[in-house]
Amino acid sequence: MSSGRSFYITTPIFYVNDAPHIGHAYTEAATDVLSRWHRQAGDDTWSLTGTDEHGEKIMRTAVANGVTPKEWADRLVAEAWKPLLETIDVANDDFIRTTDPHHEHNVQVFLQKLYDDGHIYAGEYEGYYCVGCEEYKQSSELLDGTGEYEGQLVCAIHSKPVELLRERNYFFRMSAFADRLLALYEEQPDFVQPDSARNEIVQFVKQGLNDLSISRSSFDWGVKVPWDESHVVYVWFDALLNYATAVGLSDDPEQFARRWPATHVVGKDILRFHSVIWPAMLMAAGLEVPKQVFAHGWLLVGGEKMSKSKLTGIAPREITDTFGSDAFRYYFLRAIAFGQDGSFSWEDLHARYHAELANGFGNLASRVIAMVGRYVDGVLPAPGESTAAEDEIQRIVAEATANADAAIDRLALHEAIGSVWTIVDALNGYITEQAPWVLAKDETQRDRLATVLYTATEGLRALAVLLSPVLTTTTPVLWSAIGAEAALGALRDQPIRDAGRWGQLPAGATVAPLEPLFPRIELATS
Ligand code: MSP
Repeated sequence: MSSGRSFYITTPIFYVNDAPHIGHAYTEAATDVLSRWHRQAGDDTWSLTGTDEHGEKIMRTAVANGVTPKEWADRLVAEAWKPLLETIDVANDDFIRTTDPHHEHNVQVFLQKLYDDGHIYAGEYEGYYCVGCEEYKQSSELLDGTGEYEGQLVCAIHSKPVELLRERNYFFRMSAFADRLLALYEEQPDFVQPDSARNEIVQFVKQGLNDLSISRSSFDWGVKVPWDESHVVYVWFDALLNYATAVGLSDDPEQFARRWPATHVVGKDILRFHSVIWPAMLMAAGLEVPKQVFAHGWLLVGGEKMSKSKLTGIAPREITDTFGSDAFRYYFLRAIAFGQDGSFSWEDLHARYHAELANGFGNLASRVIAMVGRYVDGVLPAPGESTAAEDEIQRIVAEATANADAAIDRLALHEAIGSVWTIVDALNGYITEQAPWVLAKDETQRDRLATVLYTATEGLRALAVLLSPVLTTTTPVLWSAIGAEAALGALRDQPIRDAGRWGQLPAGATVAPLEPLFPRIELATS
């Protein structure tokens, strides 16, 4: 069922200097839940991720490892970044690499047009450059170094010394776009979200914008500037364009019209690039700006952004090998308000896994299915007359579906999951109150037992659909166990906005035994 709406969502493209940690996987998981939800709602969905492979940082890493930058990038993409998508079960539609010749060519086409239209000029620049950020820094973004960096200026994000660079570069007249950007933030208040991020960007642009250096000439790992091959394109200028070149900018107008504009999910550290530089580039080219830029928070360790360079990175597989990919996706998206920072701890993961997934949801599914097996031979009975208790469950399921969909629209993933969880809590309460094990002992209560078992199983049907974008591996198992696969078809084909419509699972469906969806896990105490 198609809604006729287009939904194009992107992750940032990841630097291939190192392997991913759970901060990167967090961005991927969030974007994947959003795209799976929209896809299952029938929206014309496209989800893009990929890798950012040019620039000084990658070049230096490759040199330090004795290989060419392209060899290094190939290795990291094959051994680390593509496998990440399997580790956390991401269903992306495309994977772009900035070394793809198609992308490189279209970066040149875009840049040449800006040059021809007078948006680019040659100039000189001196400033402090952070190779970790791949960015010239303002002095307000620098700190005095301590310890081994005593006496040097360090980047506030990377805590590593910045380098004083003086180069003759090409510049993009970004300053000319400040007013149009401010008008954009004003007219389209959800262009930058959440609100705290929007306010920060508005304040930043109100102070006025500098022109942007968009080429480098002291090294050659990048896309060549088309009119002056002694320069390579600044890595961020090249990287931001991935969102457009991947969907046919310059060479596939039909695809571009179908997909563009995009919703960009990014970490807050790279918000300015996406909500200031990127729309200014698009405005200069006469193209539509993105639909939205949403900045999520950081995963923190000891109060600081988790990072490989600070040796605080945790590999996603350390979590998924024990808890599975569903628990990974659920935990980070439920425990952290999307848009705010969050601290990761093994204890919290372990506690939520047991309380919410194993006991809350998993146990509910096991109990209901076991009772249908035991009391009615595994054949779903037709419900008898409803009481206020059943009406209440139906109301909660319908309301949770609508609330979750509205939350997804605001990219409030934690709220969406919270809404769906009201069904888990309501069904658990319902079963305790209705006590089917008591009804089963009384022949005169057969009708009532049928109503209770039907209500609980139909509630599981709605839960399987609503949770399928998050719990991608356990919900299909539940779906089959309640006989829905045979009766209603594949889980991924169930329209998610319709999940709250009561009575979809037909009486007579065959309910089969279910292994625990989330087995108990002992935390190693070492
Ligand atoms: N290559 C650029 C993005 C270019 S997009 C046109 C880049 N790459 S990155 O690999 O350094 O970061 C990619 C994403 O991972 C960013 O959104 C960043 O915020 C996110 N994260 C990196 N560390 C993180 C945490 N500790 N917590 C949450 N997200 C984190 O920047």
